[in-house]
Amino acid sequence: MIGIGSDHGGFELKEAVKKHLEERGLEYKDFGTYSPASCDYPVYGRAVAKAVASGECDRGIIICGTGIGISITANKIKGIRAALCSDCFSAQATREHNDANILAMGARVLGEGLALKIVDTFLDTPFSGDQRHMRRISMIEE
Ligand code: RB5
Repeated sequence: MIGIGSDHGGFELKEAVKKHLEERGLEYKDFGTYSPASCDYPVYGRAVAKAVASGECDRGIIICGTGIGISITANKIKGIRAALCSDCFSAQATREHNDANILAMGARVLGEGLALKIVDTFLDTPFSGDQRHMRRISMIEE
């Protein structure tokens, strides 16, 4: 189960990501926002982060205008490693090296085509499991 959320700045891209996940046959839970009306990104970043941290969702995708505010919010929740990605290389590396459990994107930064490629890269790349990466990830939580 993939948790997805955005503020008004990310609303349109969130709808496109949902359609893409449906086409791929992947299940998701939409934590809002549910309209393009102005709203506060911490509400939605926190909701997705808590769902991932609790195990209700396996991964999360969060979107705001820049991706910055919503990723800062998500990273305040214990156990969350939210990675703000604007390219596929970073999306692959953050899964392999950081075992990132949430992808953050900026809807005002990315075109839809690139954003969907980043989503696919993030969802399809496994964690490497290398000792050195496991050690570094455990140090984040200290
Ligand atoms: C909303 O205007 C905008 O500030 C928000 O989407 C995001 O970019 C914050 O980091």
